[in-house]
Amino acid sequence: MILEVKDLTVPTIDQKCLIVNKVSFGVNEGSIHAIIGPNGSGKSTLAYTIMGLNNYKPSGGKIYFDGIDITDMNITERAKLGITLAWQEPARIDGLSIPKYISLGINDKANIKDIIREALDIVNLEPERYMNRTIDESLSGGERKRVELAAAIAMRPRLIILDEPDSGLDFIVIEDFLNIFEKIKELNMTILLITHREDIGTVADYGTLIWRGDSLLTDVFPKVMLKYCAKAGLKEFCKRKLFSGKEVCFDEDYIDKIFREEQGL
Ligand SMILES: Nc1ncnc2c1ncn2[C@@H]1O[C@H](COP(=O)(O)OP(=O)(O)OP(=O)(O)O)[C@@H](O)[C@H]1O
Ligand SMILES: [Mg+2]
Repeated sequence: MILEVKDLTVPTIDQKCLIVNKVSFGVNEGSIHAIIGPNGSGKSTLAYTIMGLNNYKPSGGKIYFDGIDITDMNITERAKLGITLAWQEPARIDGLSIPKYISLGINDKANIKDIIREALDIVNLEPERYMNRTIDESLSGGERKRVELAAAIAMRPRLIILDEPDSGLDFIVIEDFLNIFEKIKELNMTILLITHREDIGTVADYGTLIWRGDSLLTDVFPKVMLKYCAKAGLKEFCKRKLFSGKEVCFDEDYIDKIFREEQGL
């Protein structure tokens, strides 16, 4: 397991309430692990606490990365171990050239050009067309997201945390995402993906359901999604063919059973 979160508890800055309450889950190396849950359930707080951002200090629990206790490490130390957070907020990077921006996190200065080209290629931006572009309003929302992801990939992290702000992934169609994530996996990177996109089940291997600050279930993604739908009372949503093509598929009876259990019917 590359990441292990154990009984993690995170209070608000004024310590008056808990945003994340004894959350536990593990992430397998090389997998895409989705964190799902309703608005305000604590997903971003969890992501920021794993990255080690200021203002997100746990009051209890542990975070292990590759078996190392990183709970008390700062963001720089965690980044050095290979953790990166992307899409945290719309980046204020306007005016930089694309290669300059992507190069900022590259350590291997001797091969900088090749690494930039490779990163652009992975996010399906043709290097020839984008090496001379600047980050400004001439880039579409989707292109900008891809450039940000390329910058994260170029750092060669072992774990990429993608926190989708509201419109985050909407710019990228799902087939394209599948393709990008397959290529990221080939580089042995693990992805922790926080999303609202229901169709993300087609890319995630595993998932964790966060509900009012608690971690309710960690399992293969379709099972986690089904529990989420059932808890949220989204019956029609449960029955959509979200999971076709994945190894776990549910028949209507099973969906009905889970739904009744969760709704106390
Ligand atoms: N610094 C803070 N002080 C007080 N409350 C906070 C603080 N940060 C987050 N919260 C509250 O904690 C809860 C969880 O917030 P968080 O942003 O982690 O949720 P989320 O699951 O990412 O939500 P969304 O799906 O809308 O992105 C929210 O109710 C939020 O208002
Ligand atoms: Mg959030």
